[in-house]
Amino acid sequence: MKSLIRSSVVCPDYSKGYPLISYGEGIYLYDESGKKYIDGSSGAAAVSNIGHGITEIADIMREQASRVSILPTHVFSARVVQDYLDVLVDFAPAGFEKVWTVTSGTEAVENAVKLALQYHQIRGDKRRHKIISRNISYHGNSIFMLDIGGMPLRKKMYNNWMNHFPHISAANLYRKPAEISEETYVNNLLAEFEQTLLDEDPYSFSAFVVEPVVAAAMGAAPAPSGYLERMHSLCKKYGILFISDEVLTGFGRTGARFGINKSGVIPDIIATGKGISGGYFPLSAVIASKQVMEPFVAQNSFFLGGHTYACNPMGAAVGHFVIEYMEKHKLIENANNQGNYLKEKLNRLYNLEIVGDIRGEGLLIGVEFVKDKKTKEPFPSEMNISKRIGELTMNAGVILYPGKGSCDGFSGDHLLICPPLIINNSQCDTIVDVLESCIKKLQDEILNT
Ligand SMILES: Cc1ncc(COP(=O)(O)O)c(C=O)c1O
Repeated sequence: MKSLIRSSVVCPDYSKGYPLISYGEGIYLYDESGKKYIDGSSGAAAVSNIGHGITEIADIMREQASRVSILPTHVFSARVVQDYLDVLVDFAPAGFEKVWTVTSGTEAVENAVKLALQYHQIRGDKRRHKIISRNISYHGNSIFMLDIGGMPLRKKMYNNWMNHFPHISAANLYRKPAEISEETYVNNLLAEFEQTLLDEDPYSFSAFVVEPVVAAAMGAAPAPSGYLERMHSLCKKYGILFISDEVLTGFGRTGARFGINKSGVIPDIIATGKGISGGYFPLSAVIASKQVMEPFVAQNSFFLGGHTYACNPMGAAVGHFVIEYMEKHKLIENANNQGNYLKEKLNRLYNLEIVGDIRGEGLLIGVEFVKDKKTKEPFPSEMNISKRIGELTMNAGVILYPGKGSCDGFSGDHLLICPPLIINNSQCDTIVDVLESCIKKLQDEILNT
């Protein structure tokens, strides 16, 4: 059942109607006609980590709203907020000391970058005004974050406000030159990073922003082995803060508390969001290491941030519940187990002519489609391959998250598979069966025309 979008509603595609969802339960969404979908994208995307329709959260929100939902935070805090912030710090890697919440991933990464800029300023290092980041990455949708991100298709409308800071190459093992080893590839990326710093004066940089697994921009591309560790060491060498953008990779998505954890790197600042509240409340957070906060504490100075909904009690109540729920139901372990299971089952998709790569960590998995498997040539962007496969799977009752630009920022089609972390084996099987038949269908269509 499709309903036409009302004229008052802003939506991405005015030409089509969207089914109206009436409720969700576990990994499923149900539209008004009763059709059932597997939410294999967990919202847009990787948000509903704990699943839909958990009534205990509704109870907690009702209870908190009837107590107090917002505070004059310039003069008050509340125990529910303080307790939650302590729990959040404990959830972060060792050495993290301070945290505050905001409401979107964009705000969290932007606040993390502002914290890094302020850190250098209050230490008297006024030169460090630049940020370094990577091509084919996504850090949020404000003008500032679009500039720091590396998605040309999203930036082009705002080109006059872009290009303040340098971007280095993406690290994408699938697109590594075939003739070099992974180690040489990483050496080259490191050399490029250091040369970019030296060309611009390394001491003019304040922070390096990185997604440990590049999610929507590159289709769940994990970092090559040793890459994050060595980038981190290079940042240390020049006094550049390392910001891990964990908006999508945080809260168990990759089979660890944070995506960076598997590398053993302890970043200076973590920006996180999405799964932090499982989608039950707009919530995100900046978590800062003791070392970053030291100059603020020593100078009795504070971070110049401030948003209306920062550290609000409703978000704290929901966020606290989500951490306890994840731990009680061992969702991080399940993300690892089901992620391995799903990837193993997906391997048979390599038999299909247009499936070039299957990759990812935990329950953040990407499938990249190519026109030519040998040369890895992508499909022309205007063929909208991933979007069309996404439409087919949706008709068949499985929602996935299509993306474009994984090859060079413009072309390269991929789909993210990132279901709630509560998923089980047979539900994974259904996703694989549906995806396989939909790819076959589109493949037959394009190869026969
Ligand atoms: C890695 C990353 N950073 C930042 C953001 C921005 O988060 P939000 O859409 O909540 O502002 C996203 C959103 O997809 C993301 O994936």
